[in-house]
Amino acid sequence: MKNDTTPQDAAGATDRRAVWHRQRIRMERLGEKHTPNGRQATRHWDLFKVLLGAFDLGLKLTGLHERGVRNALNIKLTCLELAFTDLPAAFDGFRILQISDPHVDFLPATTEIARGLAKDLDPDICVITGDFKRGFSGPFDHILPALRDLISGISARHGVLGILGNHDTADMVEALEDLGIRILVNETRTIERDGARIHFTGTDDVHYFYTDAARHALAEAPGGFKVALVHSPELAGVAADRGTRLYLAGHTHGGQVCFPGGRPVITHLTCHRGYASGLWRHGTMVGYTSTGVGVSALPVRFNSRGEIVLITLRRQEQA
Ligand SMILES: [Fe+2]
Repeated sequence: MKNDTTPQDAAGATDRRAVWHRQRIRMERLGEKHTPNGRQATRHWDLFKVLLGAFDLGLKLTGLHERGVRNALNIKLTCLELAFTDLPAAFDGFRILQISDPHVDFLPATTEIARGLAKDLDPDICVITGDFKRGFSGPFDHILPALRDLISGISARHGVLGILGNHDTADMVEALEDLGIRILVNETRTIERDGARIHFTGTDDVHYFYTDAARHALAEAPGGFKVALVHSPELAGVAADRGTRLYLAGHTHGGQVCFPGGRPVITHLTCHRGYASGLWRHGTMVGYTSTGVGVSALPVRFNSRGEIVLITLRRQEQA
């Protein structure tokens, strides 16, 4: 991975990270929901919790709970080839392994299954697109051993990048980086091959913790082939306007509980609800929203299968 930062750049990055950390902690304490479309009064929605409790009780009374847990453990490997006319030739065949929403302390077997699926893939880079844990606050040390196991099984020659999700806290960043996950907080990492470069810009979560720094990070990414890592697809329009070519997200769990046919009951998106799972396109930008590895709220899935995703980039010759 290219690292051509000067001491001044490094000092600037440290200062920006400190400013971000203070602001993020304040937002976590306030419990407000900051989205690209404005601030919402609360992120804990009492009616949703009541409905969730009733749904959980219904599953247990009807015997469907066990089936839902089995569904949640039925995680697949999704392989995609995505072709771009402007991909530098040196990156033809470059492979990105995306792991999203591991929520490692809720139904821990999902992380073990993902580890098994990932261990022989030999990607060029691995990206973890947020939601490492279950709760929205509190301690996180208990998730580190399982995450260490997951990471140790992945041999990606350009390492592992990560971003924070709406379940992740500012205080987790240092511990995640100590595990070898380079967390991108509204910043860009550049990868160089044979003199050509592609850029990965990762933002802080934009579902609860949006700030203009996320928008600026996408705007400030160097020119060339740009990949955005954003926990939710809610920044798709902004990223496309700023020349992003590939946008990787998670957050929705593909609905986690869907109607037959796969339409989510709830997306947990404030915009771009049509991008709740799978491959999509926004203008000339290609996006992929992973259904994720883990679960949240309830340890079940219906009509929505979890996944890890292996994306092979291809250079498409112009006609
Ligand atoms: Fe999640």
